[in-house]
Amino acid sequence: MTVLDTALKAYQSPTRMVHAIGALSALGDEAASLKVKRPLVVTDQGIVKAGLLDEALNPLRSAGLDPVTYAEVRANPGITLVDAGARYYKSERCDGLVAIGGGSSIDTAKGIGVVAVHGGSIVQYEWGKNPIHSRIPPLVAVPTTAGTGSEVTLWAVITDPDRKIKFNVGGTPNIAAWVALIDPALSVNLPPAVTAGTGMDALTHAIECYTMAYHQPFTDAVALLAMDYCGRYLRVAFAQGHNLEARYHMSLAAMLAGLAYGTDSAGAAHAMSQSAGGVHDAPHGALTGRLLAPVMEYNYAGEPERFARIAQALGLEIHGKSVWKAAEASVEYVFQLTEDLEIPSLNELGFSEDEIPLLAEKAEADSQTIGNPRDVDARGYQKIYARAFEAGRHRAVARTLAHASP
Ligand SMILES: [Fe+2]
Repeated sequence: MTVLDTALKAYQSPTRMVHAIGALSALGDEAASLKVKRPLVVTDQGIVKAGLLDEALNPLRSAGLDPVTYAEVRANPGITLVDAGARYYKSERCDGLVAIGGGSSIDTAKGIGVVAVHGGSIVQYEWGKNPIHSRIPPLVAVPTTAGTGSEVTLWAVITDPDRKIKFNVGGTPNIAAWVALIDPALSVNLPPAVTAGTGMDALTHAIECYTMAYHQPFTDAVALLAMDYCGRYLRVAFAQGHNLEARYHMSLAAMLAGLAYGTDSAGAAHAMSQSAGGVHDAPHGALTGRLLAPVMEYNYAGEPERFARIAQALGLEIHGKSVWKAAEASVEYVFQLTEDLEIPSLNELGFSEDEIPLLAEKAEADSQTIGNPRDVDARGYQKIYARAFEAGRHRAVARTLAHASP
């Protein structure tokens, strides 16, 4: 696969990437330089309660802007939320967007931008349906977690409660943020469970995009550095929330892993987590993190050299090991990392084993199945789900033993 195939490959990012500890103070200047005067600030109630909304509004006002707030975002944003946001954007005569929050807020802002420019409902712009022919209004994306990388991706993920799926919108630079403003200080107060889930999501983007059929030299390079940072800093950020060095590197890991997406999609773990996330309202990061190791175990036979290279990027000793042994080491590492980060089991995330056939069918229908490093159909997905449930049972046993010990 890869360099020998004749499919045209391209890489394009229209996003200016700005980062520093304390970068939030530059938000007003960044928005003003895009000629925005009245931005819609898209966020959620958690950000409001943490005082981060005020921290974002201050520099906007200092730069002479007149922001309007839309703080209705919930995890796994749906069609209604995006469409209502677009109506609000129009009624308030906004001329730009600021998203502050996790992937849900940034994806909602992207969706609002698409509908504000093109009209209708966001559901009409599901990938493969109506094209997004014009660029969204100027959007400054300020991530407060280190995971989705949505601040630099060409995608928004929207939930359709009627079809019980999440669908992708984008695959074009027209949906990308104009500026990604990355301030690692915004993530220091994240609870360990959110650090763990979002960090595993970033690692999954890097590993899936590095091993999938669409990879190319640029995405390979950024994916490998993202893995390097995750290997060095994810456990530290989980163990020491206030450690700014770890937070900074995880913020950059999320950005790099987001860039690794290119214009394409991820692979089996995201086909599974996005389709399953439409069935039960589970956090995307934890769900994806729980699935990553079983997916790698299934996939490594398809691209053994690449999985061996992943082991090296994660900091594992591979000297003297065969390609196959090194590839296996990368899989074992991620199984262990999942437990060390206390990623919830699939049962804890709201799923049950009797849903495996349904979940497998939905994963097979997800467009991210295409390009997975190993051929996979509903039967393959059933095997992977069975392994993911099993790994979660080990976690339950370990927790019982821990509680039983004196
Ligand atoms: Fe993800």
